[in-house]
Amino acid sequence: MNQYVTGAVIKELREKYHLTQAELAERLNVSDKTVSKWETAKGYPDISLLESIAKIFDISVTELISGNAVSNGNVSANMMRSKFYVCPVCGNSIHSMGEAVIQCHGLILTPCQDEETDENHMIFIERVEDEYYIRIEHDMTKQHYISFIAALSSDRIQMVKLYPEGNAEARVKINGVRKILFYCNRDGLFSIKPVKGIDDRRTSYDDTKERRELEEVAKMLFK
Ligand SMILES: [Fe+2]
Repeated sequence: MNQYVTGAVIKELREKYHLTQAELAERLNVSDKTVSKWETAKGYPDISLLESIAKIFDISVTELISGNAVSNGNVSANMMRSKFYVCPVCGNSIHSMGEAVIQCHGLILTPCQDEETDENHMIFIERVEDEYYIRIEHDMTKQHYISFIAALSSDRIQMVKLYPEGNAEARVKINGVRKILFYCNRDGLFSIKPVKGIDDRRTSYDDTKERRELEEVAKMLFK
């Protein structure tokens, strides 16, 4: 976290709000030269001005100082906009219904961007009664492993913590699940829409008996 508001943050916010240096200066009762000085790192705004600056940009003083402005609408409106934050130092995994400024081990965490599953992170999803049985084909060593699986629906999240030496699998209630995500400690966050995993038999994501048998044969051949 920054120790104090930086010129770059002021400039970014000013431009976002389409204000000129002179306009911002006028609203703060300082000269436009002063604003220019802040933005070129030749001086800092006096502490008595921080509250006014934050107010103009509709953020909190903490956000102004940290340089992380959060603009969430009604975050409780849709769980599908969930964000995941993972600390690279300790692996702490945090779920948030919208963006947040989250710190762990002195680092400001950025929300993980989920990517489509790839050939090194294949997911197999099977319906078992009212549950999805989810399995990820991946190492589970201390160095490289899947650390959690999460299933998102519009009103809930089911998050299962996984451990190295365990299996990369989880069971979740199907009820309303629209997105399944999992996190690899080295390669980041992956996601899939469960319908694709189950219904698209032509892709490699299916989990038919035949395919499993083929996988077993392949394992024996290539081990
Ligand atoms: Fe990985």
